[in-house]
Amino acid sequence: MISKTLIIGACGQIGSELTYKLRAELGAENVIASDIKESNLELVKSGPFKILDAKNYEQIKDCVEKNNVDTIYLMAAMLSATGEKFPEKAWDLNMSSLLNVLNLAKENIIDKVFWPSSIAVFGPTTPKTDTPQRTIMEPTTVYGITKQVGERWCEYYFNNYGVDVRSIRYPGIISWKTLPGGGTTDYAIDIFHKAINEGHYDCFLTEDTALPMMFMEDAVKATLDIMNAEASDVKIRSSYNLAAISFTPKELAAEIKKQIPDFTIDYEPDFRQKIADSWPNSIDDSAARQDWNWKHVFDLQTMTNEMLQQLGKPAIS
Ligand code: SER
Repeated sequence: MISKTLIIGACGQIGSELTYKLRAELGAENVIASDIKESNLELVKSGPFKILDAKNYEQIKDCVEKNNVDTIYLMAAMLSATGEKFPEKAWDLNMSSLLNVLNLAKENIIDKVFWPSSIAVFGPTTPKTDTPQRTIMEPTTVYGITKQVGERWCEYYFNNYGVDVRSIRYPGIISWKTLPGGGTTDYAIDIFHKAINEGHYDCFLTEDTALPMMFMEDAVKATLDIMNAEASDVKIRSSYNLAAISFTPKELAAEIKKQIPDFTIDYEPDFRQKIADSWPNSIDDSAARQDWNWKHVFDLQTMTNEMLQQLGKPAIS
């Protein structure tokens, strides 16, 4: 039987686009999508779909064995803003799902694991500009704590059990197909929907809050690039810094205004400001560029054009 790929958390913002891309490359029948519920019907209909609880080891193991799965992408997680409301639930979901998948690889039931980390592993004591791969990491959100600990587990399973786990620290991901949920960087998506539908956006961050960001196509490309790299080229087995663009809400609003001149924005920072303030402004991802040849494609302008075009506003280039 041909080996299959399983995506856990396939209905989410990144999981859904990764599923579409992998289905296009490997054949829809060879990519099993799964989530805790059928929250994205278009995705559910695009190929095999299973209801799976990422916290349930036996359920995942059963699906893996019945379908001859050799690779898992673990995309289920509680993000930064929701995690601050439910700290213990975030810890429980983010950690138990990772250990479940790592243990399947340790038992040689699967061969390869992708697990995303995040810029949230960094904290207020981290150098903010061009944040290095190896630096001070004192995250202050529970989400960041789970990502930092998760990175340690990944490296530990690689060193001690030879588990082929690969990971990147995603910046904020901007996309139009599936809405994100519960993140601090979500403003950079919300702003497009509101600009098009209402001509106005109330931003929950201040105008000068610079954060590292990336367009979805680049994020999916990075994910497949690291998964397709030779094992010997993946030299960092905790997680790689990854970067594309960095901008502030004010800079993004100015770019949108070039195409929607009447667009207005107000700034009303809430509890998410403190989270954003604890994260880097920009990231040094030279290790990923060197080790597995990472390159991004989209800059602020091309990303903005694509978002406005896809969400319904003709782009002027
Ligand atoms: N986009 C995530 C968040 O804002 C960061 O990884 O929580």
